[in-house]
Parts: sequence; C-alpha cells; structure tokens
Amino acid sequence: MKRANIRDLKVKDEVEEVFLVKYSALMSSRDGKKYLNIIFGDSTGQIEGRVWSKAEEVYKACSKGDFAKVKGKINSYQGRKQFIANSVEKVDKSEVDLDDFVVKSKFDPEVMFNSLLKIVDSLDDFYIQSLLRNILNDPEISKRLKLWQAGKSIHHAYQSGLLEHILSCTQLAVNLSSHYGVNKNFVVAGAILHDICKIYELSNGLNVDYTEEGKLVGHLVKALEVVDRFSYKIKNFPYNTKLHLKHILLSHHGHYEFGSPKEPMTREAYLLHLIDLMDSKMASLETIILGDQNSGHWSNYIKHLDRIVFTADLPHYPEELSEKQASEKRSLSQGVKSNKKNMNKDLKQNLGSLFEKIEIKPKK
Ligand SMILES: [Fe+2]
Ligand SMILES: [Fe+2]
Repeated sequence: MKRANIRDLKVKDEVEEVFLVKYSALMSSRDGKKYLNIIFGDSTGQIEGRVWSKAEEVYKACSKGDFAKVKGKINSYQGRKQFIANSVEKVDKSEVDLDDFVVKSKFDPEVMFNSLLKIVDSLDDFYIQSLLRNILNDPEISKRLKLWQAGKSIHHAYQSGLLEHILSCTQLAVNLSSHYGVNKNFVVAGAILHDICKIYELSNGLNVDYTEEGKLVGHLVKALEVVDRFSYKIKNFPYNTKLHLKHILLSHHGHYEFGSPKEPMTREAYLLHLIDLMDSKMASLETIILGDQNSGHWSNYIKHLDRIVFTADLPHYPEELSEKQASEKRSLSQGVKSNKKNMNKDLKQNLGSLFEKIEIKPKK
C-alpha cells in the first residue's frame, strides 16, 4: 500500500501511518490536562502534532528517534496543519524501510563529487591542487563526504547536504574569485575544506548529533589537523601556503562569537566567509519555504533568522499588463494587505508555538 507521505497530507485526512518521532514534549493545558507536543517526520517533511489521550504513557513509550504507528486526523490550527493523533504505538526499527525516513539531497552525490574534482583539476597552484586531490581521494573522507549532512537542522540538514553545500560554495568561489580578482586557488581550497571536518564533528543517520570530537574540538580546528596530515605527505609543501590556508579555515565563521578564533584578514578569507554565509542563508531560506505548512504566504517566526519569511514567488511580468489586468492586480494587492494584517495578528498568537520552544543556535 502506498505510504501517506507528510508532504501530501491535507486538512481533514484520516491517517494511519508509521512516522519518525522528531521531537516530543509533555505539556499541561490550562485545565491541568497533560498533552504531548510532538513532531512527526518522514523523507518528505515534518508535521507538528498533539496527543491528548494517554499522553504520559505515549511520552514514556516513544522518544525522539523512535518510529511510531500513528492514527489520527489532520486539523488546521491557526492556519497550520496539525496532526491530532488518537493513538501512537512504538514500532521496531527492523519493521520499517529506512529509505522512507531519510531526507536526501536532490542532487546525486557521485555527480556532485565529480564536479568538485573537475574544479580541482582547473586550479593552477601545484601544491594546493595536490593537497585537495589527496584529501578528496582519501577513501574514508570521500565515503563520508558523499553521505554526511551539513548540520543538525539549520541548512543542508539532509543526506549528502554537506557535499551539496561544499560544491555550491566551490562554484561560487570560482565565479567570485575572478570577479574580485583574488587568488582562486585559496578561495576554492577554503570552500572545499572549510566544513569538510563536519564528517568528524557530526554523526550520520536519522538522528544526527555532535560527536565527542565535534563537541571538544570542532570542525574549524580539526580542518587544520587534516591540512597538516595531508600536506606533510607532499614534498616541500610551502609554509606560507599552509599558513594562508589555515587562516581561511580558522576564520570562515567570520566573528569570534560564531566560533572563529580569528577574523578574516585576507581578501580570500573574507570572500570565503561571505560565500559560506550566503550559501548557508540561501539554503536555509529554501528549507523554510519548502517546509512551510501555513495557509498564507508567510512563515512562522524563524528564531535563527530572527524574522518571518515570505514563502510565495515574487511577481513576474514578462509582458506589459492591459488596463483591465492592472486594475485587477491593484484590487488583489489591497486584499493581500488586509489579509497580511490578519496574518500578523495570527503570528503574534503563534509566538508561543512549538518552533519557538526548540532551541536553535545562531549560525551553522
Ligand atoms: Fe563552518
Ligand atoms: Fe559552510
């Protein structure tokens, strides 16, 4: 039987399906009744839910990371879809097809990896090119790079997301280095290596988390270790090349408060920092827009961006409008304005929503 994918669920749908529990918190209503604030997920998205019956029992039986067979109905609450689950039963991992729950990059990792190698082939600095080839051809690094996600939740948080982010940054590095007349070899090396050590910083699988090494050392400092390990194998690797590479890697978060022990002090380092920021923010906006379940064209308040996001396409008029069309558009936009007012009122009410309660750290 075809799965009831979260992306396709509609208000009033009666649903009986297995989902992954992504978040679960026991709450008390005003009259003291216990209920469960829960998020269900699958490979197509996630949906916020409520469990009113046997909430404490369900909370104890099903934790974050468990699979659960859920029966219930889709409701609309303050313009958003909400799963009202009447029963939630834990299901053993062996009974599910993990592919139904893994969110993957829309790009083929092998194709992305080959595109990365081609860009390395185009470099004209012997030492940087050799270093990047050695690192990317390391069997363990290449295997992990094709699978790992770039973060826990903010951007490129899906299988092969790290490679997608690295390739996107590398393509921007190629274009913007020539635009600004800076040394492309360093910016490309920075783009490839800046987050590569997330393969050690994060775990892989359905419930990605920070590893011991991630918590204790982190991907910025770990990248220096990788540069040292692989550059020692290249005869006469120039000291100053290594120094500037290390500076780019250490400074790529741009500011001390975002975990960079140095701020960018070369044009190449500054450009790489801006590229990283641009790519992570743009990907994060895309994720918000794709995952938005509100009925209007505004997202909920997004804590890590400190704003709400417009989720519809912007207007596009390839041809001049007729008088009639123009006047129709005018009346429509007046309608939108008044709707927007109502939505802002709704948004204020939504501020106590679940997304507010999830702790999201600034950047990465
Ligand atoms: Fe980073
Ligand atoms: Fe990055």
